[in-house]
Amino acid sequence: MKFFIDTANLDQIREAHDLGVLDGVTTNPSLMAKEGIKGTENQRAHYVEICNIVQADVSAEVIATDYEGMIREGSELAALNPHIVVKIPCIAEGIKAIKYFSDKGIRTNCTLIFSVGQALLAAKAGATYVSPFVGRLDDIGEDGVVLVGQIVEMFRYYGYQTQVLAASIRNTKHILACVEVGADVATCPLSAIKGLLNHPLTTSGLKTFLEDYHKVNG
Ligand code: G3P
Repeated sequence: MKFFIDTANLDQIREAHDLGVLDGVTTNPSLMAKEGIKGTENQRAHYVEICNIVQADVSAEVIATDYEGMIREGSELAALNPHIVVKIPCIAEGIKAIKYFSDKGIRTNCTLIFSVGQALLAAKAGATYVSPFVGRLDDIGEDGVVLVGQIVEMFRYYGYQTQVLAASIRNTKHILACVEVGADVATCPLSAIKGLLNHPLTTSGLKTFLEDYHKVNG
């Protein structure tokens, strides 16, 4: 399973990268706004900075919602760095744009996926990744992890190469649940990734080992 970090915060990206287990980064307009990055030039420079840190997939989302605009913007984003994956919303114009980019060999991440049907259309168009939003489905009383599992099964059944990128992951339990249903990738907040490390028996076991060492060795 690949781990992406879901943030545009450079400190968090560096911290996750330094852990040695980071496979990529996802951003979206809300995450960029949270970092206070304004203006196209600054935003593009920020994407390049993220690419330089992680040297791995970095999803950068288009703002345009029309086909021509998505093609123009996505092409510019893809030209910034070979690690850029063009993130495109799951709307009709977006599906057409994914097909365009797929034909050109440009990788895409189809975002805002909330149903198996949407994932199917994105895969048929040639998306590299589809991003079902786990937490946002949970927020409305549905089960986001169930959707991730259904998409995984559907892609396996039909042999689609599109990877299932579980997004809107809010906590460590979400990650573990996505592991159980076979998600290819989970994009997570740093806290959720670090949460995987925590176990009281590790903490107490290490404490005892060190105390016993020092009893004998001073
Ligand atoms: O990867 C998508 C993600 O950024 C959305 O997360 O917590 O806003 O639903 P959230």
